[in-house]
Amino acid sequence: MSRSTILSIEDIGKNFAGFHALSGVNLQVGENSVHALIGPNGAGKSTLLNVVSGHLAPSAGRVMFQGRSICGRPPHETARRGVARSFQITSIFAGFSVFENVQMALLAQHGLCTRMFRPAAPMLRDEALALLQLVRLDGQAERIAGELAAGDRKRLEFAIAMAGRPKVMLLDEPTAGMSPDERAIVIHLIRSINRERGVAVLFTEHDIEMVFAIADRITVLHQGSCIADGAPAAVRADRRVQEVYLGEDDDEDAALH
Ligand SMILES: Nc1ncnc2c1ncn2[C@@H]1O[C@H](COP(=O)(O)OP(=O)(O)OP(=O)(O)O)[C@@H](O)[C@H]1O
Ligand SMILES: [Mg+2]
Repeated sequence: MSRSTILSIEDIGKNFAGFHALSGVNLQVGENSVHALIGPNGAGKSTLLNVVSGHLAPSAGRVMFQGRSICGRPPHETARRGVARSFQITSIFAGFSVFENVQMALLAQHGLCTRMFRPAAPMLRDEALALLQLVRLDGQAERIAGELAAGDRKRLEFAIAMAGRPKVMLLDEPTAGMSPDERAIVIHLIRSINRERGVAVLFTEHDIEMVFAIADRITVLHQGSCIADGAPAAVRADRRVQEVYLGEDDDEDAALH
């Protein structure tokens, strides 16, 4: 199935004091697609996401979002245009309820300040509830956010991120530090947000089976270069990918299980 491209990473290079963290990286994220960026530690995944979000300037190449260059734009402007880099710094207000947290995120999105919180609150009620339903937290709307378990906290973070109405979400290891069960919940949540809201997702994840379970497309980085890019089945069968992940080349069993 061909999709039109919403985010195009073109020939990106990034040097740190002469060290080539990224070299000639090309990657196209299709509209509405879930795109995984995988590779061993130090491959350049976080660096690439930081270049896309505007947190790092590339040494070469450009990033196009909906046909316009977003290179050199500050992160808040890139976010405002619809490319959200989430979950590095949690924006949850621990002393407020789950519902209030989402309402405040919506207020910020609508350009209203907290002074207007009370009058504006009813207006945003339906929207906040819809977001809580999206992340399946509507049953816990009145709970204090600081008391949520890790998986539920992640759900709230997704609802807050979605309040900004992103068109693309950049997620750097969204399941880091979670148990396998929590990880599976979050990965499937990413899938349902993508399906229900049509948000494209570019994410990194070390659990390869999770990646193969939900990604429409996978790009593999190794030492700053792209070594494979394509549909999950093709990437799984790719010999170089198997070498990088398993350190074997011609063993018939050296598939990514
Ligand atoms: N600010 C920096 N200054 C110098 N070197 C850096 C900087 N940021 C990253 N690097 C180097 O660039 C390379 C890529 O790092 P990056 O964090 O992008 O890898 P990664 O694929 O995200 O790895 P991980 O899976 O461990 O998160 C690494 O060798 C890292 O040490
Ligand atoms: Mg990283």
